[in-house]
Amino acid sequence: MSMETPLYEGKAKSVYQTQNPDELRVVFRNDMTAFNGVKHDQFENKGRFNATASEFFMRLLEEKGVSTHFINRPDPDTMIVKKLQMIPLEVIVRNVAAGSMVKKYPIQEGTVLNPPVVAIDYKDDERGDPMINDEIIFALGILNPEELGAVKKAALRINEILSVFFDEYGIRLVDFKLEFGKAKGAIILGDEISMDSMRLWDKRTGESFDKDVYRFEKGDVMTAYRRVLERIIPGFGG
Ligand SMILES: Nc1ncnc2c1ncn2[C@@H]1O[C@H](COP(=O)(O)OP(=O)(O)OP(=O)(O)O)[C@@H](O)[C@H]1O
Ligand SMILES: [Mg+2]
Repeated sequence: MSMETPLYEGKAKSVYQTQNPDELRVVFRNDMTAFNGVKHDQFENKGRFNATASEFFMRLLEEKGVSTHFINRPDPDTMIVKKLQMIPLEVIVRNVAAGSMVKKYPIQEGTVLNPPVVAIDYKDDERGDPMINDEIIFALGILNPEELGAVKKAALRINEILSVFFDEYGIRLVDFKLEFGKAKGAIILGDEISMDSMRLWDKRTGESFDKDVYRFEKGDVMTAYRRVLERIIPGFGG
């Protein structure tokens, strides 16, 4: 627990300014929420599991030439990141129909989406994160066409890298959510890549390894999160 006042306290992470004006400290808390905060609990290890996953995937992306905000992880639940001017969009990439896509549209859960579907929500809890489109993004002055093109291209590239990676470990990357920000004009991946932000299914059994275990009470959610890390990180003991 920190005595400092956070710059921002979200539903799962707390963000602090560091001594360096260009860097932030993001603490992944043990809070778990679903259905826009209606369901709320705390789970031991949750913060460090998601911080561990975020470091792992952001390093993987950096190796493949994708710019991310990740700098280092000084504590199990804490990342130092590049401070970004966040773009208020949730960029969702879907490889398989599930979740809200199945709830909102006439498509059966499990339908393979090829090519993958990119959908963008306007990030605003009070408005219920409404879906947005290119024209509304331009009208609101959130991004210009060139920037939006860069965001979508990055999202699809990230999908390619993560899908191939998970496939090798017997996991299907069903869908995931990204948040981007700007620093000195460049578009950079921010926020997190974790079991909170991805939907992951066991390729063999179809079992969920993500927040759906919590949302729909499919079992012990921290066991599910731990199993992802044990599969993909050599020597992950925690
Ligand atoms: N590099 C960064 N620079 C500045 N802000 C960031 C950076 N990375 C992430 N953020 C922001 O920090 C906050 C992280 O907190 P958290 O994810 O818990 O909150 P939230 O997004 O408001 O709620 P939730 O994700 O649960 O809907 C988010 O507002 C996110 O957009
Ligand atoms: Mg968030």
